[in-house]
Amino acid sequence: MSNEYIVVDQSLGLCGDIQLSGAKNAVLVIMASLLLTNGKSIIKNVPNSKDVSSMIKLLETLGAKISFDAKNNILEVDTSFVDKYAVPAEIMKKMRASVLVMGSLLTRFGSVDIALPGGCVIGKRPINYHLKNFEKMGVRVSTSGDFISARTKKLEAKKLVLEYPSVGATENILMAAVCAKGTTKIVNAALEPEVLDFIDVLKKMGANIAILPAATIEIEGVETLQPIEHEVMFDRLETGSLLLAAAVTGGQIYIPQAPVYAMDIFLMKLEEMGHDIQVGADDVGVRLKATACPKAVSFKTGPYPGFPTDLQAPMMAVQCVAEGQSIIEETVFENRLLHVRELQKMGAQIKVYHNKAIITGVEELYGAPVIATDIRASCALVIAGLVAEGQTIMSGVHHWRRGYQFLEKKLCALGADVEFVTGDDEMSFFDCSNNVYKVDQK
Ligand code: EPZ
Repeated sequence: MSNEYIVVDQSLGLCGDIQLSGAKNAVLVIMASLLLTNGKSIIKNVPNSKDVSSMIKLLETLGAKISFDAKNNILEVDTSFVDKYAVPAEIMKKMRASVLVMGSLLTRFGSVDIALPGGCVIGKRPINYHLKNFEKMGVRVSTSGDFISARTKKLEAKKLVLEYPSVGATENILMAAVCAKGTTKIVNAALEPEVLDFIDVLKKMGANIAILPAATIEIEGVETLQPIEHEVMFDRLETGSLLLAAAVTGGQIYIPQAPVYAMDIFLMKLEEMGHDIQVGADDVGVRLKATACPKAVSFKTGPYPGFPTDLQAPMMAVQCVAEGQSIIEETVFENRLLHVRELQKMGAQIKVYHNKAIITGVEELYGAPVIATDIRASCALVIAGLVAEGQTIMSGVHHWRRGYQFLEKKLCALGADVEFVTGDDEMSFFDCSNNVYKVDQK
């Protein structure tokens, strides 16, 4: 790994208007679903991030022809020549979302060979819900060490019950069910905004999907699906991060594209802290004017519409300098409090009991060398660095690049003093100058 790091100097009073990027957790599954079609699809508002470049490489390995206009965030994917169903282990290991090609390859070929995507620091992240439900749909799954082979002569429509509303399992089952003759039901499905954006894409392809009460999704199998054109939803997680950066620095911000309709509980918590939140018409767009004396708030993460686990770490950073005590309970992943240790290096007063963190607000944090442990932890540490006295130097910045499209540049546009420093001449994942993407050499 090259010696890259992010330097953050104290930057108070962030302010301005800022544009968003497309949602990482929508675009990756949408890209995987293009394997259900034959032909050229056009996806707009695609974030220029490392996870997108990893998914591009994965689809190209299977035979897809891809071009990405990084300057205009437009991705063209032609799946006419996709003729493979085995994903090399080194590509699978790059990110968890690689597992999302299973459902579409089973529908396309009745076969898929992958390596287990592997866990990550936030948890073991097994895929048992995915595999168990594929087997109920008539798939023979065999595993040998890290390798999984799945074969089926015909996917069968079934009633499937998820013991936990897993986002990935819901998405994978949807892709296995869209052409399975008959009616498939997914009971206790995940209905995150990104899943709904994905379902819109499947419907555009010609899928027959209905969302019923009590989080049940019903799918009537169809013969074939067609290539599509789609604009990815704006990223509610980037929105939350930008709002928190303005809140913690006592600033004010306007995000005209904010998908506020998908952020109720998060915005309610910001208001409980005393920040002034103005929501745009039709629940799109948001203005925040920070309070000078933010109050600490408590929350626990959970499946949508609960507090999003992906905003837990950034929100914790903001509680570190709020008045009073905050109790944060992480219920989605079993090990998603690793950023606590790093925030403590900056002077945060935090105690951890199992999956609960108790934060006592302090007058100020101070800059320190810290390590990002996952995508959202990297965001939490940059946010803490913005308000901390002095300079924070964060390593582990490949996480930052995986999840955000040059978020450091957006923070600078709001007045932040943040710099992404790379020892080598950083090979940009997509060379914006001539709009073609270069293989990331790292
Ligand atoms: C998606 O991960 C997101 N990733 C995650 O975002 C997000 O945190 C998560 O959903 C929850 O909202 C993408 O969409 C690419 P899950 P996913 O299946 O699908 C357990 C980020 O930072 N589980 O809903 O992997 C699992 O271990 C990332 O952008 C099983 O036990 O999440 C976890 O504890 C992080 N068995 C819980 O369920 C399974 O078969 C939720 O996982 C599947 C999941």
